[in-house]
Amino acid sequence: MIKVSAPGKLMLFGEHAVVYERPCLVTAVDQRISVGLKKRDDEKICLNAPDINIKNFLISPKDLKGPQPKEISFVLTAVKKFFEKYKTKSGLEIKTKSQFSKQFGLGSSSAVTVSTIKGLAELFGIQINKKELFELAYKTVLDIQGVGSGFDVASAAYGGILYFLTGGKIIEEIKVDKLPIIVGYTGIKADTPTLIKMVSNKLSQEPRKINKIFDEIEKIVNLAKIEIENQRWEKVGKLMNQNQELLRELGVSSKELENLIRASLKAGAFGAKLSGAGGGDCMIAIADKDNFNKINKAIEKAGGKIIEAKIPGQGVKIE
Ligand code: PMV
Repeated sequence: MIKVSAPGKLMLFGEHAVVYERPCLVTAVDQRISVGLKKRDDEKICLNAPDINIKNFLISPKDLKGPQPKEISFVLTAVKKFFEKYKTKSGLEIKTKSQFSKQFGLGSSSAVTVSTIKGLAELFGIQINKKELFELAYKTVLDIQGVGSGFDVASAAYGGILYFLTGGKIIEEIKVDKLPIIVGYTGIKADTPTLIKMVSNKLSQEPRKINKIFDEIEKIVNLAKIEIENQRWEKVGKLMNQNQELLRELGVSSKELENLIRASLKAGAFGAKLSGAGGGDCMIAIADKDNFNKINKAIEKAGGKIIEAKIPGQGVKIE
């Protein structure tokens, strides 16, 4: 059996604006999803995903075209896309396993999609580079979700910290191997497609105002890239606060996110912001390592759950 794993992700800077041809910064986190794959003698595809209670789900390759149960659609659509692109097919035994709950918004769909495609390439002896892997996985995700910049897919494929432009027009690896970031989960699952839709409605109603916000976010992202490269964390923190202010103006923050952000800042973080679509999921704070304990406690006291993970994490890899 071939086993492949891919990391979760956290948006550092630039969410929402990145849907509209602006750059963002994303980091991989070392909480991973793994996919095990082997060929079967018959034609069938059999999927086991114990984390989401899927046991021995059997499907014929010809039925991959039809509608699929939502929870497993990323794996099955990835298989379909791979068979189409590389003109191959086989019965398969597939098993997925996650180190993190899909509730956290760490990008379980993109990680499982990237792992599945990488695993299939390995299984069929096909050379696939990071960019090709990204392209096919991004197409898979778009097929299912219809919207999204692809930043999460790039993060799962490349790992590390990335400077990313919409659709992968730029994917630049930032060579920094540490990032003193604390992650606090609000306990609320964000509904990313709905939030993207809400911002899109605002953009059509008030294009000047919203485009101006996006332009300001773009400036922050470009400054943050330099500060991260130079590991000037205090400056990175200031930029996080500015980015958060703009996200508030966009209307995507929430009471719970604000509580955790405020608590972390009061406890001495250099800066903090929501991470991802907003409305829930996680916030991030950047701080001096010596202050981590105090800030973790403050976030927990404000109702958050600390997610421990090595940041940045490694991209997709064969186990
Ligand atoms: O909610 P998340 O963590 O999947 O992040 C969404 C980020 C957006 O910029 C709002 C959408 C996107 O695909 O870039």
